[in-house]
This record gives sequence, structure tokens and C-alpha cells, in this order.
Amino acid sequence: RVVDADGLVLLPGLVDLHTHLREPGREDAETVYTGTRAAAKGGYTAVCAMANSYPVADTAGVVEQVAALGRAAGYADVQPIGAVSVGLEGKRLAEIGAMAHSAAAVRMFSDDGHCVWDPVLMRRALEYVKTFGGLVAQHAEEPRLTEGAQMNEGAVSAELGLPGWPAVAEEAIIARDVLLAEYTGARVHFCHVSTARSVDIIREAKARGANVTAEVCPHHLLLTDESARTYDPVYKVNPPLRRDADVAVLRAALAEGVIDAVATDHAPHAPQDKDCEWAAARPGMLGLETALSISVLALGGPTEVDWDLLAERTSRTPARIAGLDAHGRDPEPGAEANLTLVDPAASWTVVPADLASLSRNTPYAGMTLPVTVQATFLRGRATVLNGTIAEEIQ
Ligand code: NCD
Ligand code: ZN
Ligand code: ZN
Repeated sequence: RVVDADGLVLLPGLVDLHTHLREPGREDAETVYTGTRAAAKGGYTAVCAMANSYPVADTAGVVEQVAALGRAAGYADVQPIGAVSVGLEGKRLAEIGAMAHSAAAVRMFSDDGHCVWDPVLMRRALEYVKTFGGLVAQHAEEPRLTEGAQMNEGAVSAELGLPGWPAVAEEAIIARDVLLAEYTGARVHFCHVSTARSVDIIREAKARGANVTAEVCPHHLLLTDESARTYDPVYKVNPPLRRDADVAVLRAALAEGVIDAVATDHAPHAPQDKDCEWAAARPGMLGLETALSISVLALGGPTEVDWDLLAERTSRTPARIAGLDAHGRDPEPGAEANLTLVDPAASWTVVPADLASLSRNTPYAGMTLPVTVQATFLRGRATVLNGTIAEEIQ
């Protein structure tokens, strides 16, 4: 197919290290089909599916099911993340080897949307994944420091009288796991890094040669805890939206490379889980269809952004972290490439009803964002053309 790409920017297909596809178990919030359509519209050709499904992705059966649903949908490659521990209890090591050696070839292990809190479990998981070149993706949050927390702990939480989630709850686990990564020689990836001090700890760890990588979410690059003043649960997310000072440090760390990648933490929620009071709402927000625009904003805006750096942080580096060889490479001549065509001069207004995701919990509703995805190609086949999903997917 010939596409007129005059004036457009050609990127390697975007790769998301952190997507909640909600299937199996919460198909009222998202399915692999709707979630990967949202991914394609956002310019993604691969997503790593987080393990907190129902049942939890803690066996070869579940991870193979998720991968098969991704193949059947055909919109993006779905690489399942396995759960470190069995079920929801976070105590016993799951069948990591069975998932690694399954048809899904799982390399990344996480807990079910929570921190791998128990240091003994974390150490054993690291020693195990090291044997086959895997890694642990850590949602760093010390649960005893976040118990009851509703938003970032700081001046705004004090004013609103909402229980705070302190920065140190994240930083304490990152510091511990940097040490465990160095002790075991295994790889740790830090999910949704949100504080300035976390960046400092990761910078120091990397300077010592620790085997750690880190991701930042678009919402932590743009929004702050000031938005909690609206009491609109769309702004409730784990880890919480932080301060302006954190946003500035995260942006600089992303540009510098201390933060390796942008990851969406796309967290769709059904209406009943968001259309309620703040305290009762589930944490999490949509990300796949807006991540590219927010990343461009965070890296200087559509006219200033270094597109090569953007490709590094949203495609090549996340592909390398996840071990997805076919993604994030600059395509070779004749190859069936994963590509994203972006209009750098266009802008769009976020209309929740127009999103491909099954859920509507975007914090950017009504906002006008820079750059549009014109086309996405998965191994040479268009999943998105002229900004809309190509329906004839075989
Ligand atoms: C995630 C979810 O909804 O599954 N929520 C969130 O606020 N980020 C869980 C997670 O990644 O921590
Ligand atoms: Zn998390
Ligand atoms: Zn998540």
C-alpha cells in the first residue's frame, strides 16, 4: 500500500511496557480486542499486558490465553506479563518457569498491579528470573505507608483533608530493590516512577552500574495533585499525581535517559468504578490513545521535540526492555515493519465517546492535544489509516 506521507513523521511502532487489558475477568472495562484497538489508534504496535486480571496471570494457561486473544484481535502484539506470586495473596512464588517456557514466552514478571512487597519473595523472584534472562517489573509502593491513602501527601492533601500517599512509600521500595538488583545481579524495572527523589535514587544506581530501568507515565509528566481539588475521581491514580517540582524532574529525567521509557499504565475502569465519590473510586486512568501527544508535550512540544529521542523513549528502549525483537527497530529495506505515521502539525480534541477503549476514564476530556496518529502498521499491515481503525483486519 502506498501512503502519502508528505509532511508526516515516521516512527517505529510504539511499544507500551504497562497496559491493563482487563481480560480475563473485567471485560466490562476493557477486552484484549478493545484495548489493542485503542493501542493501534495511539500508534502502538505492541503492548505488555499487566498481570492483574481475574484470574491473575500466574499460570502458563492464563498468559497463553491473553497472548492468543491478542493474536486473534490482530491490532497489536500482546506480550503478557506474568505474576510473581500466586493469586492475590502475594506470598508464594507463582509458576514463573512454566510461564517463561510457555508459548507466551514471558520474560517480565510483576505482581498483580501491586508492589512485590515481601523482600524474601522479591529476592527469590530475582534469582529465578535471572536464570533465563527475565526481569521483575516493580510497582514500587510500600503498602504499610500507603494504607488508606487517597492522593499525594502534601500541601493539597492537608488542605482537602484526604489521607496522603507519601513519596517515601515509593522511594523506599526503589532504594531496597536497587540493592536487591545489585545483590542478585538480576534486572529490575521500576513501573510508573513518580517522584523527584525516585529519579535521584535511580540515577545513582545506574551510575554504579546496577541493572535497573524505569518508566514514567504520561499523566505524571503533565498533571499534578492540584487536580484533586475538583474531587473528580478521573484524577485518582496509583501512584498519585504529584507536585509541579516532580513533573519538572520527571520530564528532565526522561529527556536525559535516567528514565528509560514512557509507559501508559492504561487503566480502564467501568463507569460504576469511577462515577462515584473520590474515596470509593478505583485508581487508574486511560493512556493508550493520548500517550504520544502527552509525550510530545513533555519533550518540548510539537515544534521543539527531538523525534529521534521520542522514538527512543516510546519504542526502541521499551522494546529492548521487554525483549521484543521485532518492535522498536528501524525497519530494514523490504522488512514487514511496525511503523507509526504522525502528523506533527495537527492537533485534536479528546472526546471520550470517540475513544476506541471500552472505558471513558480519560483525564484529558475536552483538552486539545498536539500531533495525531495518521497510520499504524503492524508488520506492514495497516491497523490504522487516516486516523481511523482499519476494519479489514485478517
Ligand atoms: C492500576 C489498575 O487499575 O490496575 N491502577 C493504577 O492506578 N495504576 C494498577 C497499578 O498499575 O498499580
Ligand atoms: Zn502499579
Ligand atoms: Zn498499572
